[in-house]
Amino acid sequence: MNIAQHDIPPSGTVAEHGPTGHVTIEPSILYFGTPVVLLSTENRDGSFNLAPISSAWALGRVVVLGLGADGQSAHNLAHRPELVINLPAPDQWRAVERLAPLTGRHPVPASKPPGCRFEPDKFAAAGLRAEPSHLVRPPRVVECPLQLEARADQVRPDASGDFVVVEAVVRRVHADPRIVVPGTHHIDPAAWSPLVYNFRHYFGLGPELGHSHRSQTPRGAGDAAPGPVPR
Ligand SMILES: Cc1cc2nc3c(=O)[nH]c(=O)nc-3n(C[C@H](O)[C@H](O)[C@H](O)COP(=O)(O)O)c2cc1C
Repeated sequence: MNIAQHDIPPSGTVAEHGPTGHVTIEPSILYFGTPVVLLSTENRDGSFNLAPISSAWALGRVVVLGLGADGQSAHNLAHRPELVINLPAPDQWRAVERLAPLTGRHPVPASKPPGCRFEPDKFAAAGLRAEPSHLVRPPRVVECPLQLEARADQVRPDASGDFVVVEAVVRRVHADPRIVVPGTHHIDPAAWSPLVYNFRHYFGLGPELGHSHRSQTPRGAGDAAPGPVPR
């Protein structure tokens, strides 16, 4: 796309060209591209909820999540802290999108967007299968290549009051062997792509551009011996 097209502000916005030519805009959302995760959590009656979330990032073994305060996932984690953070692959975006208008909360809170409806069996609604976890009660999503069993050790309100910020400590990692460098504990970055939520559109990763100086992933197949999980 021609960048110059962006200089035409939508009606109601103010264009303030600085030395770099940037315009001042007021986007309705700031979802600048984060991986989609499917959170499985436990409902009060012992059934399980499944919800797509994109506000998720890792701090070592802690995954920080941002959840709508009125949603079933936030409600579940405040009372039953076990969860699984399931990471879908790019080709699973349609299953994710099938979950988008659904909530496990009944009655549906007024804060949910129009068209949102209650669904007690979101695995079936999405066409995804559940498999038991090892250390937590909520199940894993079979189709997700990466699954993180975790426990929410902190659930607290965010600055706006509309969301809660969850700090989930990962206890066990499950990976499809096709995304693991054989004989190691490394995820193969060339084999794995997250599903990225980019301003409400779904993307996979493009070709690799380079790697961090801290990368410990072996370059080239089969040149790494099994060893301890790197720090
Ligand atoms: C791709 C995608 C990403 C989403 N990201 C978030 C998010 O980061 N936080 C959030 O609270 N809701 C997010 N949502 C909306 C929730 O999935 C939605 O509110 C859902 O109803 C929550 O289900 P629950 O009420 O059963 O927990 C996202 C939805 C989609 C489709």
